[in-house]
Amino acid sequence: MILVTGGAGYIGSHTCIELLNNNFDVLVVDSLDNSSPEALKRVEEITGKSLTFIEGDVRDATLMASLFKDYPINAVIHFAGLKAVGESVAEPLMYYNNNLISTLILCEAMKNASIKNLVFSSSATVYGDPQTLPLTEDMPLSATNPYGRSKLIIEEMLRDLPAADALANGDNNWQVALLRYFNPVGAHPSGKIGEDPSDIPNNLMPFITQTAVGRRKQLAVFGDDYDTIDGTGVRDYIHVVDLAKGHVKAVEKLLSAEGIDGVQAYNLGTGNGVSVLQMVNSFAKENSIEVPYQIVERRPGDVAACYADVTRAQKELNWQAELGLKEMVQDSWNWQSQNPRGYR
Ligand code: NAD
Ligand code: UFG
Repeated sequence: MILVTGGAGYIGSHTCIELLNNNFDVLVVDSLDNSSPEALKRVEEITGKSLTFIEGDVRDATLMASLFKDYPINAVIHFAGLKAVGESVAEPLMYYNNNLISTLILCEAMKNASIKNLVFSSSATVYGDPQTLPLTEDMPLSATNPYGRSKLIIEEMLRDLPAADALANGDNNWQVALLRYFNPVGAHPSGKIGEDPSDIPNNLMPFITQTAVGRRKQLAVFGDDYDTIDGTGVRDYIHVVDLAKGHVKAVEKLLSAEGIDGVQAYNLGTGNGVSVLQMVNSFAKENSIEVPYQIVERRPGDVAACYADVTRAQKELNWQAELGLKEMVQDSWNWQSQNPRGYR
């Protein structure tokens, strides 16, 4: 059984589908702070399979210990956490409290239960302001905001576990895959689950879809004077279904005889850079719907371009993204147009 923390959220719910489709039993723990139980109902509808859901906070040590006692868990995927960069600047303590303490409590429960197979949701944000592209996993790491710093601190904390295990037991049993996501977009092709930001979206794709559906007047394009193909910011967008499949591959690797040697980082992206205007134009063309936009000032903290070298994930996880920009914009719109107010 796979314990999925934050499994009701955007990436978690898509991952639950892929796990169930691959015949894993799934146990979700989620506080529902940033998600709806409806997402999990729809996961069951889509797959025709059921999962176990416990509403609770990963920072609750008693709860976490009981999960490892009560269920035959053999690996954990840890999505639970807060993820809004701007909010993390305003509320750094809230971010450190949730992201760091949840991971700490989870790892203590795992250690006590001797279940040491972990897939952690990291982010391309750990590369800071990239100096060289594409980004390989061994490039220098830095943080430009408290959210990114929380991911960096967690990565470093996890890196300390194998040596301690070896010291205590003569051999290390921790296997940790740090999955560094680039820019997740899209939705399940059924249109039943997708990204449902509770506030005004920070990210490009939900802003585009909410503008297209009439909830926002126009998209603000943050800067057109970057040194990129058309002056707008370039990112490595990855379809959330491909991303979800990457988690299944990581779990399979941890549970295979080969395994992972201690802690290993993997970039999950497509390797392709797409500009803001390329994304807007592709969305408009594929869905035959206009997205009104206006060029405004650069957003503070944004980098010009960021995209991945995905060779390691291809070689070691036997994973690569299969879906392109067309599926990303079509599936995002399919979800938003069928669910104009998200799960509400
Ligand atoms: P999300 O907010 O949709 O999902 C996170 C889930 O965790 C939510 O369902 C929320 O209710 C739950 N949660 C939060 N704190 C919790 C706690 N202490 N205990 C239990 N549940 C808790 O976010 P997402 O986009 O699905 O992101 C999942 C993970 O991936 C996060 O760790 C995020 O930082 C990381 N990530 C996301 C992106 C992105 O652009 N979406 C990019 C890189 C990394
Ligand atoms: N953008 C706009 N208008 C908007 C929103 C975004 O022009 O309304 C532009 C940004 O300037 C950027 C691109 O669209 O050029 C993508 O912006 P997002 O906010 O969607 O994504 P970011 O790359 O800024 O950040 C995302 C996640 C972070 C994560 C980072 C690296 O939001 O949590 O990817 O993984 F840290």
